[in-house]
Order: sequence, then C-alpha cells, then structure tokens
Amino acid sequence: MKTINVRTSRPYNVIIERGSLSKSGELISQVIKSHKTVIITDDTVGALYADTLVQSLEKNNITSSVFVFPHGEQSKNLTVLGEIYDFLCQKRITRSDFIIALGGGVVGDITGFAAASFLRGIEFVQIPTTLLAQVDSSVGGKTAIDIAGGKNLVGAFKQPALVICDSDTLRTLPQSELSCGMAEVIKYGMIRDENLFNILENHDISNIDDVMDDIVYTCIDIKRNVVENDEFDKGERMILNFGHTLGHAIEGWHNYTDYTHGMGVAVGMCMITELLCSPEITERLKKCVESYKLPTSTNAPVSELLPYCSTDKKCDSDSISYIVCNKIGVAEIKKVTVAEFEKLMEG
Ligand code: NAD
Ligand code: GLY
Repeated sequence: MKTINVRTSRPYNVIIERGSLSKSGELISQVIKSHKTVIITDDTVGALYADTLVQSLEKNNITSSVFVFPHGEQSKNLTVLGEIYDFLCQKRITRSDFIIALGGGVVGDITGFAAASFLRGIEFVQIPTTLLAQVDSSVGGKTAIDIAGGKNLVGAFKQPALVICDSDTLRTLPQSELSCGMAEVIKYGMIRDENLFNILENHDISNIDDVMDDIVYTCIDIKRNVVENDEFDKGERMILNFGHTLGHAIEGWHNYTDYTHGMGVAVGMCMITELLCSPEITERLKKCVESYKLPTSTNAPVSELLPYCSTDKKCDSDSISYIVCNKIGVAEIKKVTVAEFEKLMEG
C-alpha cells in the first residue's frame, strides 16, 4: 500500500492499492468516527462496485444508503444536486456524519460540492474509479456543478477526508475512458517529470496496466506538490492546465459530443507544443499521445477555436494564460493579451 499525505488547509491521505475498495470500511474508520454514511454513485459504477463498498462498511459497523444517478456529465447539475440534498435529509445525515463519492470525476465533483454546502459543510471521502478521477479530480479539493452558463461554474474548494484509489477498478473502464485519463497522465510527464514520460514512451494502451499503481502514485504526488504550493489556484496550479485552454476550445467546437475531454487535452498539448517548441519534443509528444489511442490534431480551424479560448475560465477580461513545455518535465506559465494569443495561434 502506498500513501500520499496531502498537506493542504485540511490535510488528508491518499491511499493507492490494488484491491483497496474492499478494505474501504477499515480505512475510513481509521479517519472518520461516524457510523453512518451515504454513498453517492452513478448507475454504471453503482452496479459494478456499490455492493463491495457497502459490505466493507458493514464489516466496520458503518451503515450506508446508496444514492444513484444516471452516468454522464449531463447529471452534474442543480437538479441532481437538489435530489442529493433531499436524500441526505431523508437519511438524517448530520454534521458528524459523512458522504462517499464512488465513481469518476462527475460523481466526485457533485458529491464534493454537496459535502461543501450541505449543513454548511460535512466530511466526504473520494473513491475514484476512472483514471482521470484517480490522477486528477479526486485530489486537490476542486468541486463543482455545471449550470446553463457553462461547465463547472458553481463550486467550492473542499478537500476530502480521505481518497482511496484502487487501480483494479480501472480494469472495467472502456478503452476510451482509459485513454482520456492517459491524456492527463501524459500531461504530468510533460509538465513535471521526464522519467514518467520515459515510462509512458516505453508502454502503450495495451500494457500500461502493468505499471498502473506506480503511474497513479507518481501523478498524484505531482498534483500534491502543486496543490500544496497553490491550494486556491492563484498561480502555480495553472500548470495543470497544460493543453487545456485549446482542449476546452476543441471540446466546445465539437459541442462536447463526439470529443472527450482527454481527446481535447491531447490535441491541445500537441498544438501548443508544435507551435512553440522544438520538432524533437513535438515528435516525442505526438508519438506518445498516439500510443494511448488519442488524437494529435483536429479539423477545427484555429480561427474558429479562438472565440472559445477567450471565454475559458483561464482568461480575465483582456488576457489569456497558457502553458508551454520547452523541455519535457518543465512547464512555464505565459500570460499574453487575447490579441497576442490570436497572433501566436495563427502562426
Ligand atoms: P465520468 O465521471 O463521467 O466517468 C466516465 C464514465 O465512466 C461514466 O460513464 C462512468 O459511469 C464510467 N465509469 C466510471 N468508473 C468506471 C469503472 N471503473 N468501470 C466502468 N465504467 C466506469 O468522467 P471522468 O472522466 O471521470 O470525469 C470527468 C469530470 O471530472 C468532468 O465533469 C470534469 O469537469 C471533472 N474534473 C474535475 C476536476 C477537479 O479538479 N475537480 C479535474 C478534472 C476533471
Ligand atoms: N484539474 C486542475 C486542478 O485541479 O487544478
């Protein structure tokens, strides 16, 4: 078992171990004293893993009820949040109880926001079951829901009490979801860790599972370091957005339909690197991206992507920030005017 201690305003441990889902009850009871919880999950993950979690909690004298909503981003909204609050009231959850997010980033984000706001804040545990959620969204305390005005526009910083990553759960993920998470893993290699990038170059989508625990550990440890330095996203944390400004623009251009977040990030990383960095780095990045079944380019014309870039959360009124890696493992934050960014993108 590997443990990472995250020293944020509310410190907590991240446990990384194959099979840890079935030990969750024991791990949670070491951190939280309450004997009552609500598990929040989606229909796909609930069908696969809720029973194992409920039984493990029972063995440790924690009674649980399960709230299930339909899987997918379209559930990360105010209606489902309202249903979660009603369920917590029905089950008489008090401030000394806690809730558990069992699922991917959608479940983690909405459960985290419910935990931040219900009764003005209760404890919550993250049990992430997608690669993206294990290496990114379950750690660092960003929680959110989507509203008509845009994705993740309502949320709060709320650190979990514990995160449990069981990489065995990743074995039931469809390949497209694994690839999506691999885009974030490649990002960590590019921004902070050439050794991680080398490991990724020496594997591909068919055999990355062999080293999954080490990969998850390394990525979370990078995120830990960044978040400890900049918990409330005022500066350094922006490096985690490498590839994301263009990535979100590409997702938006495709109406968030046939393009996953990971595909957008993969293309975003490749585009910015091709424009601003050496051909050697670009070639290594593209080859690595391809080996995890992710795209390296898009049909979307740059001129049509730019309007999406300037409405991104990473912009203020007239400037835009982007991340560039001139050396693998080293990221720089650049801030330019929107006009300068447009000029840069148009080459
Ligand atoms: P997701 O939660 O929608 O999961 C993807 C799909 O995989 C879903 O259909 C889900 O049911 C299924 N699934 C999950 N685990 C599974 C498993 N083990 N086996 C089989 N199927 C499984 O999507 P995601 O990619 O995990 O997360 C995306 C969300 O995360 C977005 O809403 C994004 O905004 C958010 N996010 C948040 C942060 C943060 O810091 N809070 C960071 C990045 C992304
Ligand atoms: N996913 C980016 C962050 O946590 O800041």
